Amino acid sequence: MPRMTVNGRPVEFDMDPQTPLLWALRDAANLTGTKYGCGTGDCGSCMVIVDGEALRSCLVTIAEAEGRFVTTIEGLARDRSHPVQQAMVAEQAIQCGFCTPGIVMAASALLRKNAAPSKEEIETAIPNLCRCGVYPRLVRAIQRAGRVARRQERISAAPAPGISAEDAARQVPALRVPQDNEE
Ligand code: FES
Ligand code: FES
Repeated sequence: MPRMTVNGRPVEFDMDPQTPLLWALRDAANLTGTKYGCGTGDCGSCMVIVDGEALRSCLVTIAEAEGRFVTTIEGLARDRSHPVQQAMVAEQAIQCGFCTPGIVMAASALLRKNAAPSKEEIETAIPNLCRCGVYPRLVRAIQRAGRVARRQERISAAPAPGISAEDAARQVPALRVPQDNEE
């Protein structure tokens, strides 16, 4: 039974050792922030950080992850205060959000090695696919996150998880929440 450390906690998966790490994280550990996109290593939506490297968890078996330190999007920052998360929100570099956890993990691994990446370095380090096409904003967000990490800039904390329908309606004028006395 493969053992590893996930988000700082020791875990042991009572699963076939050939199970992809993606499925162990999602189905056994209930860490569903890591997304399944293609399952073939093409999209990057399943990226997690393993011993400091961003890896596609659909291509890593839990046997291969034995003894290693795995960080998922849930373990990056409990309150979404990681500079990449803050900058992604500030630059509105998210549309449907499905690709976002993988991109955030790849970007945080990049910034740990290179806090001032060029556009070309970002494009090389983050090959993740985004069907919504947020790429230009993504580059701006990652460079901004680098400035935050280098303490050249501050971004106020990103919104806390969860939002009421009424608050959402206030922030998105096109969305209207029917009142109780309306059909
Ligand atoms: S689900 Fe792993 S790369 Fe697409
Ligand atoms: S924001 Fe929709 S796939 Fe990237």
